[in-house]
Amino acid sequence: MIETKRGSRVAFQLHYETRQIVKNYNLQDAIPAAGKLLGSGFRNAHLFTTANDFQLTIGKKNSRMISVKPTFAEKPSAAHDREKNSIVSPSAAYLKALGIANDSGEIKQTQRDKWRQINRYVEILRDLYENSSVKGKSELKIVDMGSGKGYLTFAAYDYFANDRKLTVEMTGVEMRQELVDLCNQIAASCGFDGLRFVKNTIADHEVGDVDILIALHACDTATDDALFKGISSNASIIVAAPCCHKEIRQQIKPPEVLKDILKHGSMLEREAETITDGLRSMLLERSGYSTKIFEFVATEHTPKNNMIVAIRKPDAGLENDFQARIDAIKDMYGIGRQRLENLLA
Ligand SMILES: C[S@@+](CC[C@H](N)C(=O)[O-])C[C@H]1O[C@@H](n2cnc3c(N)ncnc32)[C@H](O)[C@@H]1O
Repeated sequence: MIETKRGSRVAFQLHYETRQIVKNYNLQDAIPAAGKLLGSGFRNAHLFTTANDFQLTIGKKNSRMISVKPTFAEKPSAAHDREKNSIVSPSAAYLKALGIANDSGEIKQTQRDKWRQINRYVEILRDLYENSSVKGKSELKIVDMGSGKGYLTFAAYDYFANDRKLTVEMTGVEMRQELVDLCNQIAASCGFDGLRFVKNTIADHEVGDVDILIALHACDTATDDALFKGISSNASIIVAAPCCHKEIRQQIKPPEVLKDILKHGSMLEREAETITDGLRSMLLERSGYSTKIFEFVATEHTPKNNMIVAIRKPDAGLENDFQARIDAIKDMYGIGRQRLENLLA
């Protein structure tokens, strides 16, 4: 059990082949959720209690449950994250400097959502790196577009430069001078020699050679500017978590058949988000990338949690057959312009 802002929750750690996801359920939803998961591909479940550990193994014909000595003789801390198991060290100096951790290196209660995002994000970067053509390069070039206060920029740099011991050249691009100054000061005080922050707009920043291009929560079409920079500089990996979706929201004219559904503002909002990020992913695929869109943290931690990940295919070239499908979607919703498409044109 863990304590969240919304009360006690049962924490599920879901282990997939290449990633782990943590999902929290309230008590009455936890058992049906476990049943659903076990019926849809998961073969093992472990329940840890202070009396016994229980292990359920689902076989093709039979399933069996065994109980063994408890892993935890004492009740583990109910704190939302168990920092000692996190990929990011809670005592990292930049976390203190940014007000996420206190002076004793403990994550502040008010910063736990941010902390969860940081860890999840570094785990995603780790998995992408492990499975990409970038692995094995002696020097890694990373650009973070719209780096803001730099939480995620510092965490990514620290992971690759200090945990993985790679030579990293990383740039955070941010249009607000005060944030650029703050982040440069923190980078210097942490001894992060390969990390610098520059004041610029995403559209005007000359990216040059880049292995990984990141844009997290860059507002509205700033995400398109960043994706365009990633594509045009042949970045091997592009990671974006889009923020607001105003450009398409303002243009969408619901098709006749969906009028009764999309007359509700919140539904139209979600549709705009789906269409915007869907078109972005198709444009990335058209440009020679394979893409995935997924929720990178639970919606209870942030509603802005969709992540687009694009990996450049080895023999990447323009895939023209996407255009007719992109045009059909735009026609269906009465969309005249989409910034990434215009930039690529
Ligand atoms: C919501 S914050 C996200 C910060 C950080 N990436 C994160 O996820 O924590 C967005 C940041 O992008 C910056 N930004 C927005 N549009 C930009 C643009 N076109 N060029 C440069 N920076 C931009 C904003 O000033 C802000 O600091």
